[in-house]
Amino acid sequence: MRMVLLGAPGSGKGTQGEKLAAELAVPRISTGDALRAAVRSDTTLGRQARAAMEAGDLVADELVVGIVEERLAQADAAAGFILDGFPRNVAQARILDEMLARRGMPPLDTALHLDVPDEEIVKRLLARAGDQGRSDDREEVIRCRIRVYNAETRPLLAYYQMQRKLISVPGVGAVEDVFRFALMALRLSECGFA
Ligand code: AP5
Repeated sequence: MRMVLLGAPGSGKGTQGEKLAAELAVPRISTGDALRAAVRSDTTLGRQARAAMEAGDLVADELVVGIVEERLAQADAAAGFILDGFPRNVAQARILDEMLARRGMPPLDTALHLDVPDEEIVKRLLARAGDQGRSDDREEVIRCRIRVYNAETRPLLAYYQMQRKLISVPGVGAVEDVFRFALMALRLSECGFA
């Protein structure tokens, strides 16, 4: 399974991505996790990405494309992967399509969208700010991340709809229920029912 996870900040991409990766036995590749690790280690990449991340903006395409290209070259991604947080705009989606073709890998199977209302997102991320202290989980930055999502990332729903790869599931309710529903939707689409 070659899948991208789409959804607003806090929609549960990381939570569901981990569960789906375990269930489907493919690696989850998160550009956000990779960027946060680079910021923590104060690498060149981290220094280039830090300001945009703290403001809730997107990091430059060439930086995240480099992360994905390097990760997809690893052996464990050959049989499938779940991309969490990439692509984030139409330019990245086109680059991903081209990258897979250039590497001789099959095209994406699915874009799974977790649909969560904005106010639930703000509630979740403010709750996480208290627990984990992620620097972009401050209310004004959360609101900026939602604006950036709507302007830059939401158009990907139409992009993948046009490719007949979009599956949209409700991302609210218990984590386990969202997971079961997503898995069922994926299985149905594999059988040509979605
Ligand atoms: P990234 O790390 O991708 O962050 P994000 O999209 O803002 O998403 P989050 O990690 O906040 O949320 P999530 O959807 O993964 O939800 P989660 O499972 O964590 O990116 C961070 C930054 O990096 C970006 O702003 C950008 O600057 C940069 N970046 C990354 N990729 C990029 C790219 N491709 N191009 C350019 N820049 C890029 O859940 C959130 C919370 O909700 C958790 O506390 C969780 O426990 C809780 N939760 C999950 N599910 C439920 C549920 N069903 N009910 C209640 N609570 C739930």
